[in-house]
Amino acid sequence: MYYPEELVEEIRSKNDIVDVVSGYVRLQKKGGNYWACCPFHNENTPSFSVSGAKQMYHCFGCGVSGNVFTFVMKYENFSFPEAVRYLAERVGVNLPEAEYTEEQKQRANRRARLMEVNREAAKFFYYQLRSPQGAVGNKYLAKRELSEETMQRFGLGYAGKNGTDLVRYLRQKGFEDDIIKGAGLASYSEKYGLVSQFWNRVMYPIQDINGRVIGFGGRVMGEGEPKYLNSPETEVFDKRRNLYGLNFARTARSGNIILCEGYMDVISMHQAGFTQAVASLGTAFTQEQANLLRKYTDTVLLAYDSDGAGVKAALRGIGILREAGLTGKVIDMRPHKDPDEFMKALGKEAFQERINRAENSFYFEIRILEGQFDMSDPESKTRFHREIAKKLCQFSEAVERENYLQAIAEKYFIGVENLRKLVISYAGETGGVKPIERPKSGIHQKNNAEENGKRAQRLLLTWITDEPEVYPKIKKYINPGDFTEELYRKAAEKLFRDLDNGIFRPADIISTFEEEEEQRAVGELFNTGLSQNGMEKDREQAFHDIVLAVKKNSYEYFSQRLGSDVNALNQVIEGKKALEELARTHISLSEG
Ligand code: UTP
Ligand code: MN
Repeated sequence: MYYPEELVEEIRSKNDIVDVVSGYVRLQKKGGNYWACCPFHNENTPSFSVSGAKQMYHCFGCGVSGNVFTFVMKYENFSFPEAVRYLAERVGVNLPEAEYTEEQKQRANRRARLMEVNREAAKFFYYQLRSPQGAVGNKYLAKRELSEETMQRFGLGYAGKNGTDLVRYLRQKGFEDDIIKGAGLASYSEKYGLVSQFWNRVMYPIQDINGRVIGFGGRVMGEGEPKYLNSPETEVFDKRRNLYGLNFARTARSGNIILCEGYMDVISMHQAGFTQAVASLGTAFTQEQANLLRKYTDTVLLAYDSDGAGVKAALRGIGILREAGLTGKVIDMRPHKDPDEFMKALGKEAFQERINRAENSFYFEIRILEGQFDMSDPESKTRFHREIAKKLCQFSEAVERENYLQAIAEKYFIGVENLRKLVISYAGETGGVKPIERPKSGIHQKNNAEENGKRAQRLLLTWITDEPEVYPKIKKYINPGDFTEELYRKAAEKLFRDLDNGIFRPADIISTFEEEEEQRAVGELFNTGLSQNGMEKDREQAFHDIVLAVKKNSYEYFSQRLGSDVNALNQVIEGKKALEELARTHISLSEG
């Protein structure tokens, strides 16, 4: 559902960002901006800034930024249309009714029906648990020490021994067999017709982030195979993209998310007050789930089983978290098997203590590695040190690598120099230290022309949104085509067109991008860290460098595409001229 651009702009301009944000966090005015502790990551000193002039926010700690739409999207976990509706209502703007194509309507309808039938099934299981025949389920859950309140919160239920009760109930509620089957609640048998998938199990409804039931896990009461029977993947149940408990955990605001292995772990952690606990859905933790978590936290604590399989899963999880740019830590559950058992045996204070002492994921990896070697045998020990050196090569950033190198050398009594030599030898062997894609800082980074070119483009756009009065001074050297990243070019086109018309509303540009990832990227584009201090002379030099870097990048980019891109020749000719002129021109920031 898309609203017309002008309407979105109207809603945006009527919702002053300072007003809206101060409804959520306490802002303090300092200089031209407002400051607060960032609501999107855990911190004690304010690095979250809100600019009334730009109508944007930016956190210098975790890097989030955006406009009033992306703020409520993030904070309330709204989709873009939801944010538009919410903010429209806030300022009394009327929205037109949605217009969908026939196919969209049908698909949305079917998804809605599948969610409804799941909800109805959850209700059915819920009442069965509380009926006389559900006594065995109740007894089982009580034995697991779950309170009535917890059972209600998670909507736990019971599927009785009769395989056709559920189907009869759902049909009577008006659901077609196709929908009942499509939700994975029942399947056809030759003999009995449509029969329930779940039979004589306690039932755990699985909810999406908005609390809608999308599937079930059913546990046998006691021993039996399989221990858990889960709904199959359906149009509404995507096991790679959902997490059990996230509907509660997303608002826990505890500064971290605890990732467990099982449903029972999550439930018992929440019961103990750790409402930031989630678990994957009977499948291994996925990259998609890690990306999802990144919306809510920057630190994930792994609370996996302490057995061999759990350790293996934790090692895998660490890699996935690292890939997603999240900080991973490992909670030590020993001597207990999992969070559920730990909580019952030692209680929540002891668990909080374990959270506080959660181990840095790299230390954890090295510690597990250590277990595979015999430290009393010099040869084995040497191999261990070599493995450490190889692992250190994973860090592409020199400072980070060096910090870990020193810490590990000290921890395992290895000479720093010797370990460094080993690292260098392995780095050479594998063709250099492995470059990991991660945010880079500093325009002067060597060997990374592309990243530098991109960064210069970001810096220039930030500068223009900070000081729109510089735009007329660079107009003659820079055109939107010089922004070689597609997203940047689109943002520059809009920004420059607006400025040419005497309009300055960078926050609106964000809303013209549909994908949240894009909106985030544009937000960052306008808030790339500029050094604010420095003498006017230094600032002018820096500005000149940035303009030059953007132009040079564009010139090189199009020079390489002379044969294939019709637009390239113009850009190259124009670029050459501009570069020559820039080389002998001084751009003054102060003169009008
Ligand atoms: P666990 O066996 O650790 O389950 O499996 P648990 O949640 O701790 O359950 P309790 O305490 O024994 O009751 C971890 C997760 O793996 C999935 C489930 O998601 C479970 O929560 N699983 C396990 C299945 O999907 N099927 C199974 O047969 C077993
Ligand atoms: Mn368990």
